[in-house]
Amino acid sequence: MRKIAVIGTGYVGLVTGTCLASLGHEVTCVDIDKKRISTLQDGKCPLHEPGLSSLMQSNLNEKRLQFTSDLKKAVQHAEAIFIAVGTPENKDGSADLSYVKTAVKDLSLYINDETVVIIKSTVPPGTNDKVRSWMHLHAGRAFQVVSNPEFLREGSAIHDFFYSDRIVIGSKETEAAQFLEDFYSSMKTPRLHTDPLSAEMIKYASNAFLAAKISFINEISSICEELGADIEQVAQGMGMDRRIGEPFLRAGIGFGGSCFPKDTKALVQVAKETGHSFKLLSTVMDVNERQKNLLIEKALKRYGSLKGKAVAVLGLSFKPNTDDIRESPALSIIQRLQELGAVPIAYDPVVRSIPFCTVVDTIHEVLTGADFAMICTEWPSISDLSLEVYENTMKEAVVFDGRNCYTREDLEGRNIEYHSVGRPSYKGTRSNKPSSRL
Ligand SMILES: NC(=O)c1ccc[n+]([C@@H]2O[C@H](COP(=O)([O-])OP(=O)(O)OC[C@H]3O[C@@H](n4cnc5c(N)ncnc54)[C@H](O)[C@@H]3O)[C@@H](O)[C@H]2O)c1
Repeated sequence: MRKIAVIGTGYVGLVTGTCLASLGHEVTCVDIDKKRISTLQDGKCPLHEPGLSSLMQSNLNEKRLQFTSDLKKAVQHAEAIFIAVGTPENKDGSADLSYVKTAVKDLSLYINDETVVIIKSTVPPGTNDKVRSWMHLHAGRAFQVVSNPEFLREGSAIHDFFYSDRIVIGSKETEAAQFLEDFYSSMKTPRLHTDPLSAEMIKYASNAFLAAKISFINEISSICEELGADIEQVAQGMGMDRRIGEPFLRAGIGFGGSCFPKDTKALVQVAKETGHSFKLLSTVMDVNERQKNLLIEKALKRYGSLKGKAVAVLGLSFKPNTDDIRESPALSIIQRLQELGAVPIAYDPVVRSIPFCTVVDTIHEVLTGADFAMICTEWPSISDLSLEVYENTMKEAVVFDGRNCYTREDLEGRNIEYHSVGRPSYKGTRSNKPSSRL
């Protein structure tokens, strides 16, 4: 068992630290955010990630996991240091490496010569070399630095840690690569050994490809809508082809979160620096921006003006099972509604407040008095909600569904007006079964 330090206790750092402790390692997680560390030291999990709180708790009880804001304490005896700090976007879309730089600069003052530094943060190709030179500059000697990008998904991060599709180990030193190979030996996950540049590129290319898949199906959904075809059936038929695959073929109001938006932009910048114009990926981003405005366009088409309209926004997180609202399409929708003079009120099962909009505690509250509803996140409590609740709670049940939660069969005979993505709209009344398609 190894002594490990994890720098950064966000979604990646906290999950990595907790899961490594579960594998039996002695883990110290460190963060510059003292409030966060104090919450963690109290045994409380500061983020919503299924299974994390209890796993954290059991590792704290077993004394395999500890939290500190004292970097020296965390790293001085560590055999390996995982860097999991944020890499947000700069104004031009490139990755901001300042948190990585500060972390490695500070830790190089305290670490042992044999300690392996492992970069988990998503960083542009070439960062491994930069980290080496920053550390050399500050410590006056060389260290072993391995690129080990993280592929976990928020909402299923614990599962993904233990059962991911691959572990990528990008290293220039055989010894450091072997260290990580041994380190992960208890896991059955396939390993891929690469050079650091390729490891860094694998992460960006993977996220960019998945983002492209989402924008592709969203483009197809726009055409389906014009033709009167049903994107759900089209996506199902496409996904049955094993060369294509079913994941990431859900049409909707676009991707958000802390990874796809920033990583696609960063890769466009990386390409630019090499003299290559990554037109495909730029278009993926443009399509996503358009998609985030889709429900607003539909509502404008329906009502002419949204001034004074009370709008129920269902779901705030960028996807279900997380409290992460970074780049969430729901937030753009709320802001646009406000610009248009509408009065949005939001509900989310986990996100209890945002600065610029009232968030209520129940679906009943958000729907009461609303002129129309917009479904932004397909939390089970939202996607499984009986349509009767809309019928019985709203003045007039008008729903703009950005996540295609309901099927045509669910709608049959309902007194509801329903607009979704890439499918014909529906308007029905109780008296006359499926009365009319809009
Ligand atoms: N969130 C995801 O789903 C996910 C998945 C794969 C990869 N990644 C990548 O992993 C990295 C971390 O992402 P995240 O979502 O966990 O970020 P986050 O913003 O949730 O957490 C980053 C943490 O690092 C801390 N930090 C910053 N500088 C520090 C320093 N010098 N010393 C100690 N702590 C410091 C911050 O206070 C913060 O708590 C990013 O590069 C991201 O792109 C994220």
